[in-house]
Amino acid sequence: MVRRLMMDVCRVLLAAVALFGFRSNLVNSKEWWANGNYYQIYPRSFQDSDGDGIGDLNGVTQKLQYLKEIGFTGVWLSPIFKSPMVDFGYDISDFYAIHPEYGTMEDFKALVARAKQVGIRIILDFVPNHTSDECEWFVKSVNREPGYEDFYVWSNGTVDANGNRQPPSNWLSAFRYSAWQWNDKRQQYYLHQFSIQQADLNYRNPLVVSKMKEVMRYWLDTGISGFRIDALPFMFEKEPYANGSYPDEPVIDNVSVCPDPDDECHLKHIYTQDQPESIEMVYQWRELVEQYRKEKGGESIVLLTEAYTSLDNLMLYYGDGQRNGSMVPFNFYFMRNLKNDSTAPQIVDYIQQWMTHMPTGVQANWVLGNHDNSRYSTRLGVQRADLFTIMLQTLPGNAVTYNGEELAMTDGKVSWKHTVDPQGCNANRFNYESYSRDPCRTPYQWDATKNSGFSSAAHTWLPVASNYRTNNALAQLRAPKSHLQLFMKLIRLRQMRSLQDGALKIKAIGNDIIIYSREAAGDDMFVIVLNLGGNEQSLNINQYFDMGSKAEVITSSMQSGYHDGVIIDPSKYVAEPYVGVVLVKL
Ligand code: NOJ
Ligand code: MG
Repeated sequence: MVRRLMMDVCRVLLAAVALFGFRSNLVNSKEWWANGNYYQIYPRSFQDSDGDGIGDLNGVTQKLQYLKEIGFTGVWLSPIFKSPMVDFGYDISDFYAIHPEYGTMEDFKALVARAKQVGIRIILDFVPNHTSDECEWFVKSVNREPGYEDFYVWSNGTVDANGNRQPPSNWLSAFRYSAWQWNDKRQQYYLHQFSIQQADLNYRNPLVVSKMKEVMRYWLDTGISGFRIDALPFMFEKEPYANGSYPDEPVIDNVSVCPDPDDECHLKHIYTQDQPESIEMVYQWRELVEQYRKEKGGESIVLLTEAYTSLDNLMLYYGDGQRNGSMVPFNFYFMRNLKNDSTAPQIVDYIQQWMTHMPTGVQANWVLGNHDNSRYSTRLGVQRADLFTIMLQTLPGNAVTYNGEELAMTDGKVSWKHTVDPQGCNANRFNYESYSRDPCRTPYQWDATKNSGFSSAAHTWLPVASNYRTNNALAQLRAPKSHLQLFMKLIRLRQMRSLQDGALKIKAIGNDIIIYSREAAGDDMFVIVLNLGGNEQSLNINQYFDMGSKAEVITSSMQSGYHDGVIIDPSKYVAEPYVGVVLVKL
């Protein structure tokens, strides 16, 4: 099967390269990570090599060549470390060990070696904010072992008017209910901003900071190329009052937006998120990776950071003018804010905001999806998926793709009975679907065979989405036009200088059309036209960008009537419903 798949990939790629007959230049003098195409693998759901129904490292290794052929620069793996799997790997019990369901350290070394062979960089998930309650450090902290007493955020709590013990503050966990849990053995509360089993480390303790730096160095020694860093806004909390309690967070102004007092959206997180110290930690980690490279040589090490926060904070994650931070502070706008009724002016406005607020010397980035959010083909409709693929690959900077988005995979259906995500399980059988992240984590759809070619097991850890027989990688490689082929073609096109370094000029026309140009001096001018709406519209492109009398259609959405390579008159362009087109001026 793998072999057959590869042959299909090769056939398509040769065809794609042959089509670029225009004069654009390739760019190849940058840092390896710049203008990159990053792919997120959720290892549990990608490829199961040993038939237990759970994806694993050897499964990933088998597929690295496939990812290279698509054109990805680097792959980031959601956590692969030893874990009780309460939060599917984001609850780490041993930062130095591979989770047995995923394989062994030998398997991991083989994965890194294979990645080097095929020319793809491996990036690991670094989860600094919390550990599993089964982590040795937590057990030692519970027992107040010397050196570990203050490893976590402990507090006596308070006593109410009736003499009953109460948590130290009203803080809420991201997964619902109080963020404080009483520990009988230590006779104190500990903080957990996620599940009860994910205890928050105390970053005000320098020992914790250095311990986590050791973890980073350990994995860098294995030959990886960087880290995706988890849950940054949660790193530091406000310091306690002298009596050991903490200030309450205020309730949101408009309670009708989130009336449920147990749901974290009920509070304004002024003490538990986005503390300036959290951003400063990223600068320290950037220094660490720069220092590591100085000592050991080799390529630069990339940091990708996860923070759902304001634009201003995201810009600070890049750096503050004095110190550098993350190379790729994830830009979650497409994933979080785009709704079915988002208009062209809203989207353009956001893109311009990111572009104009960036500090100098950094690159933009655009993220289509991840393992925590509903897939955009589900949210916005499969017929619009290609519009976002085109944006992802033709806007300036770095592109980030969650496994399956390149196939326009949709969310799977997971019943309440089969729900395993803690965020879903903490809800109830009536509302769990608005919370559960299982639907975007269903197995990768490789082909039309049993379990979509993901696993030979009788049961997979999450059910395979029901549309896998028609929507899968193999079918898309064989079809004359598909989401995947469009994706591959765009990745190659993106090597052109105008798409790497060219200025972005972008406008909205009415509520539905986004039009933009990318052009580097002395190179081709590309114009991209995206119609978000369901109506056909006639346009004179020359009114916005001077394309002259002839342009070539490089590529377009699957359902478009424009064939690749067709020559059109830009002054009489017809924007088909839900269609995106990439044009080059002739
Ligand atoms: C963000 C991760 O992406 C998510 O899956 C996890 O539940 C939380 N951080 C806690 O680690
Ligand atoms: Mg397995």
